[in-house]
Amino acid sequence: MQPLNLDELGIVAGTNKSSLWSDYLRHFDRTFAEFKDKPIDVLEIGVETGASLRMWRKFFRDATIVGLDLSPKCLQYMQERVIVEIGSQDDPGVLADLCSKHTFSVIIDDGSHRPEHVVFTFERLFPALLPGGVYIIEDLKGHFDQGGNFRRGPGSLSPIASLSKISMQLMSGRIDSSDNFGIAKYLFESIDSVELISGAAIVRKRQKKLNVAKKLNAVEDLLQGADRPEAWGWLSSYLLRMGGPLEQAEKAARNAIALNSQLPVHYHQLSFVLERMGDTQGAIEQSMRAVALAEGTVAYKGYKAQLDHLNGINV
Ligand SMILES: C[S@@+](CC[C@H](N)C(=O)[O-])C[C@H]1O[C@@H](n2cnc3c(N)ncnc32)[C@H](O)[C@@H]1O
Repeated sequence: MQPLNLDELGIVAGTNKSSLWSDYLRHFDRTFAEFKDKPIDVLEIGVETGASLRMWRKFFRDATIVGLDLSPKCLQYMQERVIVEIGSQDDPGVLADLCSKHTFSVIIDDGSHRPEHVVFTFERLFPALLPGGVYIIEDLKGHFDQGGNFRRGPGSLSPIASLSKISMQLMSGRIDSSDNFGIAKYLFESIDSVELISGAAIVRKRQKKLNVAKKLNAVEDLLQGADRPEAWGWLSSYLLRMGGPLEQAEKAARNAIALNSQLPVHYHQLSFVLERMGDTQGAIEQSMRAVALAEGTVAYKGYKAQLDHLNGINV
């Protein structure tokens, strides 16, 4: 007997993601093919009648499926390999708790669909997604002002604006220097692709290209004796992009500075590393050096934006 495909599973389970309604599942079937038999953690925000949780449980045969919903009534949909957590997607404590218990390869936002919730949740949860993981934002149609269709209010933070900006950055391969800090920088560096389907976005996170920790000694050996500070700077950027080891990214940036203490770009890089390590004060000090050295150059605007951002965090 042929197994049911994801759309058929969705129809049987009764979720409105199926081709009877939103018609997302023929896309998701392809997107999730690689995860089908893996022991991954899947999060769906929005449980309602438990329909999609039943479908995911059948489709992801070895996964733990976690559902988050405001309504305690949803607890009844717990079963083997299905966990339901009660809380709001705009509560940072709830999201942090979820991420401390699970490392998700798949996250689907089908919750409140309030614009500010969608953006907030994406910015909080995408950094916690495993490399190569997929983040889906559903029901984008409600965020367009078609026929007075702003169902959940326009909101000051719009998922459409966020996704459009990210897509523009991907297409151009660059991020404006005045945006290149904090979560925007993180998203630019870690998003591999954005796929738009009718009414939803499928955002994929980059794979780690290599096991940095294993290859680090070889890379460092290669650079030993290198008298070009930019080589250390590139190594530092690369390590930061790969998520670490951050101590090595810091060391590489400091090596660059030791070789030439007059190049602002290396203080700027060190500032990014220290920020990622949680050392905001140290990041501010390095950022101030970058700004002072870059005065009057084209790079000044971008370095100043990072400093302003850090000062914003530090108030
Ligand atoms: C569209 S339904 C989910 C449907 C389900 N995913 C399916 O396909 O069968 C949306 C759910 O989101 C929940 N919800 C609304 N606001 C929420 C919030 N702030 N945080 C978490 N869940 C929320 C609602 O209680 C509702 O059950």
